[in-house]
Amino acid sequence: MAKASSAFVCQSCGAVHGKWNGKCDDCGSWNTLVEEVQSAPGGLSAPKSTKARGGSSLEFTALGSESEEPPRLQTGLPELDRVLGGGAAPASALLIGGDPGIGKSTLLLQAAASMASAGINVVYVSGEEAIAQIQGRAKRLKVDASPVKLATETDLRTILKGLKTEQPEVAIIDSVQTLWSDSLDAAPGSVGQVRACAQELTRYAKRTGCITILVGHVTKDGQIAGPRVMEHMVDGVFYFEGERGHQFRILRGVKNRFGPTDEIGVFEMSEAGLHAAKDPSALFLGDKSDDIAGRAVFAAMEGSRPVLAEVQALAGPNALGSPRRSVVGWDNARLAMLLAVFETRCGLVFGARDVYMSVAGGYRMSEPAGDLAAAAALASSALDIALPASNVFFGEIALSGGIRTVGRMDARLKEAARLGFSRAYTPVGAPNNIDGLEVIELSSLQDLITALQKEG
Ligand code: TYD
Ligand code: MG
Repeated sequence: MAKASSAFVCQSCGAVHGKWNGKCDDCGSWNTLVEEVQSAPGGLSAPKSTKARGGSSLEFTALGSESEEPPRLQTGLPELDRVLGGGAAPASALLIGGDPGIGKSTLLLQAAASMASAGINVVYVSGEEAIAQIQGRAKRLKVDASPVKLATETDLRTILKGLKTEQPEVAIIDSVQTLWSDSLDAAPGSVGQVRACAQELTRYAKRTGCITILVGHVTKDGQIAGPRVMEHMVDGVFYFEGERGHQFRILRGVKNRFGPTDEIGVFEMSEAGLHAAKDPSALFLGDKSDDIAGRAVFAAMEGSRPVLAEVQALAGPNALGSPRRSVVGWDNARLAMLLAVFETRCGLVFGARDVYMSVAGGYRMSEPAGDLAAAAALASSALDIALPASNVFFGEIALSGGIRTVGRMDARLKEAARLGFSRAYTPVGAPNNIDGLEVIELSSLQDLITALQKEG
């Protein structure tokens, strides 16, 4: 047997170092290196040396194939299926990450119950909650009659043994941070344990064809390993996000071997669990009063789904000397860039003012196409021009002050027209054939300011 060796693993990024250090050289975090004793390099799942086993012969096949893709398993939650790429692929290992309390267990219990009711053998293993607690949640969700097989366990070996006997089609493990494997002398939740357990469960999925869904908490605290260290092992990584104070939750794919990654699922958290949101494209709009400066609506795309979101800006006088910039739902660096472009290309100076930006409803603006809406909200606030609530904006702003074209302009415009918007500010080249929608093409940020001044 290999001699037990010890390594210092960064609990934030998973980098392995030979000796202890106050700072992780890989990610720069402080106090995140923890000693982990490993029985073999790579821990539990390090494969036996191929050389020692002699290896077996490698078989080659052609690229073309006669065999049909095995059917996807429908989870019973269409929004979840959409993000998975049309249901869960057999033998896939999937990771659902998200902040504690965001609703991961609720989502998966609902999916488990609906699959089990459809006759699928579903096992739900919780390492976090007591049976009574889960049963209580099931009652609240009105799914307690569903034949889901429930267990509470944290020992990986016991879980794998149980799965071997039960042979489920779907296994849900909530959460991978609570699991521990005896082959590793490290605390549950440490990077080494999380990695080893996730690897073992992924292999289980591949070996048996069981769809294995792992829950992982994302935390900024260095003590608990984030799901990042598992991302490369599993077939799909999905993040469940949303603001605690809002009822909307978005499931977003960041990796998917069996489908696109840019689709989102939009849910609403209610007293009785999660429901597909009714009109997802209109969820992130504010009220429609016309007379407040500093608001603009962004026509966004999330995969194939258009979403309209209200961007709010407040450029106020600064009382303290050093101006504050604060952003919710957008990127700080992008705001800094936009302010610099305003100053250099248009002479609109924010220098001494506090700037606050926020996107309504907990939506996160991740597309560069959001620049123009952010710019409109900022200019509207700085110039104190209230914009009609019936305007929408999209376009990427270049450092030169030019407005670049973006993808899927027709889909954005059609959705805006469907939701009753009557004017769109767009990059040059946007289609202008949509009923009830006036399209105003802008080639530069200065054009935007001129157009807004006309609106005022
Ligand atoms: P949970 O699924 O336990 O979150 P996670 O597994 O991601 O930690 O969800 C917890 C929150 O959801 C909790 O604050 C209560 C709320 N909730 C509802 O609002 N309605 C419901 O029907 C359920 C089951 C939970
Ligand atoms: Mg949970």
